Amino acid sequence: MKEQGQLEAQRQFDMMEQCRKRILKLCERAGRPLTYHISTFGCQMNFKDSEKLAGILEQLGYKETDSEQADFVLLNTCTVRENANLKVYGHLGMLKSYKKKNPHMMIALCGCMMQEELVVAKLRKSYRFVDIIFGTHNVYKLAELILTRLETEQMVVDLWEDAREIVEDLPAVRKYSFKAGVNIMFGCNNFCSYCIVPYVRGRERSREPEDIIREINQLVSDGVVEVMLLGQNVNSYGKTLEQPVSFAELLQRIEQIEGLQRIRFMTSHPKDLSEDLIEVMRNSKKICRHMHLPVQSGSTRLLEQMNRRYTKEQYLELVDKLKAAVPDISLTTDIIVGFPGETEEDFQETIDVVRRVEYDSAYTFIYSRRTGTPAAVMEDQVPEEVVKDRFQRLLEVVAECSAKRTGRLEGEIAEVLVEGISEQDSSMVTGRLSNNLLVHFPGTEELIGQLVLVRLEEARGFYYIGARIQ
Ligand code: 5AD
Ligand code: SF4
Repeated sequence: MKEQGQLEAQRQFDMMEQCRKRILKLCERAGRPLTYHISTFGCQMNFKDSEKLAGILEQLGYKETDSEQADFVLLNTCTVRENANLKVYGHLGMLKSYKKKNPHMMIALCGCMMQEELVVAKLRKSYRFVDIIFGTHNVYKLAELILTRLETEQMVVDLWEDAREIVEDLPAVRKYSFKAGVNIMFGCNNFCSYCIVPYVRGRERSREPEDIIREINQLVSDGVVEVMLLGQNVNSYGKTLEQPVSFAELLQRIEQIEGLQRIRFMTSHPKDLSEDLIEVMRNSKKICRHMHLPVQSGSTRLLEQMNRRYTKEQYLELVDKLKAAVPDISLTTDIIVGFPGETEEDFQETIDVVRRVEYDSAYTFIYSRRTGTPAAVMEDQVPEEVVKDRFQRLLEVVAECSAKRTGRLEGEIAEVLVEGISEQDSSMVTGRLSNNLLVHFPGTEELIGQLVLVRLEEARGFYYIGARIQ
């Protein structure tokens, strides 16, 4: 498997070289560099894939531009909820008009939405101006697909139902110089009954720990101080490897990397969160004091319908253990409102969990029916007005709880990783605490990427205003 991955990487480097020559000729003909733009929808996984795609496009000689009026436009799509799909069709309408003005423009679509047969059938029929369509499993093939498009002058569609080998070490453009996302696993095996992800991202596959460590070592030598380990369910990392390694063990190994200062990860599934992991977090100097722990619903009855494989009580027990082991931990979550069959009593159970856990923040979603998932054909879909009313009430409780949490660090001194100049005030910089909350304080550009000590002087809703301690 590993050799296959290496061979494929080599093949793709050859493709990039060939494609680069073609693109250079096009640049000469145009008398200017060709430009690219990537619009990314959805989750961290997609943003990570987009960095890889940008890496390939830069290798080919394309230059990035802010606007979708570029020579190569790529939409990296999401399909987790229906409105994510609608957004893509909106963009496509606009791109069609840009292409009329620039007939050599290339439009490519990739990501989760492309893994759905009905979507692709619709694109083939009604969106003939799209040049390239590919999915979630063959991101690394972009150069080859562009080359095919240039050679055949026909719509290129390359979709795989399942993943093949993991291809390592292709180029990537990173958005930040000091922090980076690192895939530790791909796909998901959980089949929560509302969720389309396992169908579009395939079965769970973990990267070898050695490959992950090697990548992080390289990132650290390039100046990265914080990594975000990415997976749909990081807590089940390593179970499918030939020599299984647990997520807790992986974290311990990553902790040893000299020069690396902070480790984050997402997303955690409560059913797989081990005692070992809690222990590792308790003892770690580098793992950030934040856990995103999606609860989805507070009703044990609905959790069973959702195929989440934990009860309300088990979830709350886990939260208690985490808070006991890591007292300053900040918890965030995902909640779905209006899952089929949700009653007012079920909904009150969710409100109860929110009040008990006191999340720092919660991502709240209205249930969206995804064709092909078990929940889509469940009876008792909840009427829209009822869902909207519950959603509003949930937002209020979430806001109440976050407000209670803010201000708890006022007056304390904490370490902040500076991320950039503040968008509101150019005499200030913005950074993040270990628990992921934002801090603004007076400072200049040179601080970007540095960890500095800041006194948190004033809490203002979701962020703090601070002052650097010399
Ligand atoms: N409807 C609404 N929300 C969904 N999510 C996943 N599938 C759906 C759906 N069909 C939410 C879950 C998940 C987050 C990434 O998206 O809360 O944790
Ligand atoms: Fe979807 Fe559940 Fe997998 Fe998360 S764990 S990606 S919600 S199926």
